Formats: sequence, C-alpha cells, structure tokens
Amino acid sequence: MTDLVKIELIDNIRVVTMNRPDKKNALTQDMYAVMADAVANADEDPQVRAVIITGVEDIFTSGNDLNDFLKAPMDDAETPVWRFLRAIATTTTPLLAAVNGAGVGIGTTMLLHCDFVYASENARFHLPFINLALVPEAASSLLLPRCAGYRKAAELLMLGEPFDANEALEAGVVTAVATENSELEMAMATARKLAEKPPSALRQTKALLRGESQSMAERLKAEGDEFKVCLKSPEAKEAMTAFFERRPPDFSKFS
Ligand code: COA
Repeated sequence: MTDLVKIELIDNIRVVTMNRPDKKNALTQDMYAVMADAVANADEDPQVRAVIITGVEDIFTSGNDLNDFLKAPMDDAETPVWRFLRAIATTTTPLLAAVNGAGVGIGTTMLLHCDFVYASENARFHLPFINLALVPEAASSLLLPRCAGYRKAAELLMLGEPFDANEALEAGVVTAVATENSELEMAMATARKLAEKPPSALRQTKALLRGESQSMAERLKAEGDEFKVCLKSPEAKEAMTAFFERRPPDFSKFS
C-alpha cells in the first residue's frame, strides 16, 4: 500500500487523489495498483455512487513514471497499469475527473474514460507518446477520434504538442473549464447529483452511452502489444534518457 494516493469517501463519493507532487505525480506501479482497486472496487460497494480522480498542488499527473518505462516494460497483462486501464474502461460507476494542473500521457488519456471532466483554467494537456517513440495507449487511438474527430486527434497524437483547457473543451476532452480553482467543487457538485439518481438505471445509461465494449478491449490490446515493442526500442530509450538528461532527443540516427 502506498500513501502516494489518497482515498476518501465524501458523501458517498470516492475521491482518489494522486499525491506525489515532488515528482509531478508521476505514476508508479504501486500508485496504479491503489487506483485500480479504488475504481474497480467501487462497482461492488453500494456506498460508492461516483468516483472522482484528482491531483494536488499544480499537477494532475505527469503520466507514467518514466523510470518504470525504462526498467519495467509492462510485459504482463496483470501489471497494475493494465489493471488500472481495465478498471477505468469497464467500471459501471460514474467516473469523474477534476484536472487541477498538467495532465500528461495517461493524465490526458484517462479522461477519455471519464463521464465528466472539469479542468482548471490553468490545466494543460499533453499526449507526448510520439515524442517518446511510443504509440497511444488507454484506447485513446479509438476514443480521441470519437470525441474530437479524426483531424484533431491526428494533430494531438501525431504532433504531440501540449494544449490548454479551452482547446481540450473544444476537442470534447473536458466537460467544462472551471475558474478560480473550482474544478473539484464542480466535480463534487455533479457527483452529488449523480449520487441521487437511481443507481441501476444510471449504470445502464452509462453502459448504453459507452456502447459495445469489444472494440475498446481489442484496441487496448492492440495498442498494448505495440506499446511493449516500442518501449524496448532504441528510439524510446533515447527519448526517455534525453528527458532525464534535460536535453532534446536526437532521432536523426534512426531510419
Ligand atoms: N516520470 C518520472 N519522473 C518525472 C516525470 C515522469 N513522468 N515527470 C516529472 N518527473 C520528475 C522530474 O524528473 C523531476 O525530478 P527531479 O526533481 O528529481 O529532477 C521532477 O519530477 C519535477 O519535474 P520537472 O520536469 O522539473 O517539472 P516541470 O514543472 O518543469 O515540468 C512536466 C512538469 C509534467 C511538464 C514535466 O515534468 C514533464 O514533461 N514530465 C514528463 C512527462 C512525460 O513524458 N510523461 C510520460 C507520458 S507517456
């Protein structure tokens, strides 16, 4: 168990707070494990009517810990990160996010699995996979074109440039932009409304909105297979080493 993720129950709402600010909330395997359980167990706990994921200080999350990417290439479908992805993709409990700062990598892709996303006006989003010589994950290659359209998805995933809260709103990645750091308050207000709805009809409504789950499961697997190959590539090693050496990567030697 790690104390780098805080779990609270407030008014039947499970609030999951990523809490590793010194490393910009980079997610370790232990953190994913706690978050996977927090989301998956909510489905079995009648007390939990909604789950909110949020961050601390000025950071939502900088995504997967790049040290883990360098040394532990997610070979096994039971790794915590896979359990977390499956949990957010299949949960029947309403899932919300309050994005209080930068959300990088999975910090952006996890939002595509949320039913409601409230972002601070200072929030920043980034899908940097291509810059790290990786492919999209969390079924984002399926879900982003669905919400943003192909043109926007290609721009965000093939150029890998950061975007702000208003652009995320236009792309359908967030529900609303909050002023004066009220994103968690907004998420709580919506979660409280959801908590008063008839739970079974709400779960069915969510399932109908999400559509059939087979294509999502297939895409998660296809992306995962490719991601694992990429993680072991010299291009990815160069990209991640460059990050820790605080220099731009040099891909000119690769064909
Ligand atoms: N994995 C591991 N460590 C990370 C990290 C990550 N994903 N993101 C940040 N850190 C660490 C930094 O190495 C640094 O550690 P140090 O203080 O021991 O040197 C610390 O967190 C602070 O990061 P820093 O880059 O100095 O903060 P910043 O405010 O200038 O920038 C970000 C914040 C999030 C924009 C930047 O850290 C970043 O781009 N991180 C990498 C994101 C990424 O590529 N994620 C993987 C997605 S697939």
